[in-house]
Amino acid sequence: MKLTNQQPFIAGNWKMHKTIPEALDLVKTLGEQSSELEGVQLVVIPPFTSLSEVRKEIEGTSIRLGAQNLFWEEKGAYTGEVSPLMLKDAGCQYVVVGHSERRQYFGETDKTVNKKIKAVLAHGMVPIVCIGETIEEKKKGETIKKVGTQITEGLKELSEEEISRIIIAYEPIWAIGTGETATPSQAEEVHNFIREKLGESYGKEIASCAIILYGGSAKPANTFELLRKKDINGALVGGASLEAESFIQIAKEAIRGYKEKK
Ligand code: PGA
Repeated sequence: MKLTNQQPFIAGNWKMHKTIPEALDLVKTLGEQSSELEGVQLVVIPPFTSLSEVRKEIEGTSIRLGAQNLFWEEKGAYTGEVSPLMLKDAGCQYVVVGHSERRQYFGETDKTVNKKIKAVLAHGMVPIVCIGETIEEKKKGETIKKVGTQITEGLKELSEEEISRIIIAYEPIWAIGTGETATPSQAEEVHNFIREKLGESYGKEIASCAIILYGGSAKPANTFELLRKKDINGALVGGASLEAESFIQIAKEAIRGYKEKK
């Protein structure tokens, strides 16, 4: 799948929310409105248990499917894990890798993130690689240093061709689920750094085509201003993706922001 940032990219990370009937309710409503959302690339990322059912429900719409995590081996004695083969089989085109909650609660490191990215790419899916600083790091002025290291380590030994198939999500940890959003200019500064860094390492063309998402309390009220910024191509949305109305509103604001991109 060739990635493009010519249209905004909005992904809803449902985290550990929604039973199968609840998940179906939500995507049914999204599906009904999907014709109004033609100017946006829309992805839903349900928990593993509802992937298959959601896949059936979104068939024939423009909505695409992603998963929240995976293990890098294809199969084996790894109780409780889910493999790239299984996710592909369930209809996933995207996989979130290295979300800060996984790093914080489940011990993921840049090293494991790197292995997961490679596994996702090897199976023809697109990793959505999450990076971002803690509040302490932000206060110490270490945002760029942290994000820079996460990119260098997380993307280690990937070819240019592979880099052209990944999505990066900048998610300042202090903004996730807190209601506090990075200001558009704070976010843009980091997004611009990420794009420049990709340019230095992999060339201008890859950098200019890269999809770089913002995440952290994205909501209808702040999406327009964020998406207007040059280097912000979309949003990874948590809380506000759990209701069809706010998720759709975010998608619409993203389209509006993109039209007025500076
Ligand atoms: P939030 O979560 O929108 O609820 O802050 C974003 C994320 O963790 O991806």
